[in-house]
Amino acid sequence: MQLRVALRTGLKSLLEHQVPSADLAAELLLMHLLRQERAFLYTHPDLDLSDQQVDSYFRLISERSSGRPTQYITGHQEFWGLDFEVNPAVLIPRPETEHVVEAVLDLISQQKLSGGACCRIVDVGTGSGCIAVALASELPLASVFATDISPAALEVAARNAARLGMEKRVEFIEGDLLAPFLESESPRAFDFVVSNPPYVARAERESVQREVRDFEPRLAWGDLAQGEEIYGRLFPQALRALKPGGHVAVEIGYKMKDAVLGLLKTGWVETKVIPDLAGIPRVITARKSG
Ligand SMILES: C[S@@+](CC[C@H](N)C(=O)[O-])C[C@H]1O[C@@H](n2cnc3c(N)ncnc32)[C@H](O)[C@@H]1O
Repeated sequence: MQLRVALRTGLKSLLEHQVPSADLAAELLLMHLLRQERAFLYTHPDLDLSDQQVDSYFRLISERSSGRPTQYITGHQEFWGLDFEVNPAVLIPRPETEHVVEAVLDLISQQKLSGGACCRIVDVGTGSGCIAVALASELPLASVFATDISPAALEVAARNAARLGMEKRVEFIEGDLLAPFLESESPRAFDFVVSNPPYVARAERESVQREVRDFEPRLAWGDLAQGEEIYGRLFPQALRALKPGGHVAVEIGYKMKDAVLGLLKTGWVETKVIPDLAGIPRVITARKSG
């Protein structure tokens, strides 16, 4: 079967199964199978695929048609221009989450701290490690820490840091939110607490895409009683873990802006809401007063 016919047939099957971004998925799966870049697909439409390649491709198409996300099939997702390994132990990094990285870099540049000279940063709920590793790659002088309650996620995060040459730059610690840093009398003082925590409320479970609901870890996306309760625990801990003048930068869920801002009334100043490219409030930053 010619490459172009395989692609067309794969796409048709994905569309019949209502797979979102079906054309992209059809291409990514073929690129993964052939270990080629997208340009190869466009420059070799007449290439004859072997029977084995055709069988393998349609197996991948059928896996994707069953709802399994493309990234769990290929084992990869790009974030901040870096290639992250992903598997079902971790949330697939989303492009919107890059706004958390941008927010931290903007705050640092406003403070004129070149290269993150003074910065101690902790990423809470690191998952694949995407935020922590991206920040470490941008801020060569910063000390970056990352926590997660899931040991399986931390294994993936540590592998990603190693693959991207950041194993000496990010320290991964298992624990509940910032608890590992609050055990001592004098918690370690951070300049930034950043997080994309779980925030999906149980009532919204049915409106979540099947790719998320049935395949991504529930511990990662939420299934929480309210949705915003993690922020309610995280912010008081962050007040203890941050230096005076330190910042939080958190991703928030759809329609969560007012609830999260309400949790930043005491002890925080200069709260800022940053929209994503679709204009949806996506990141909130605040400075610890003092
Ligand atoms: C929404 S995912 C975000 C992962 C990654 N930071 C990203 O943006 O792709 C939330 C992460 O928080 C972790 N998590 C959930 N509850 C936690 C808790 N109480 N303490 C620490 N991590 C937690 C989950 O295991 C998951 O990896």
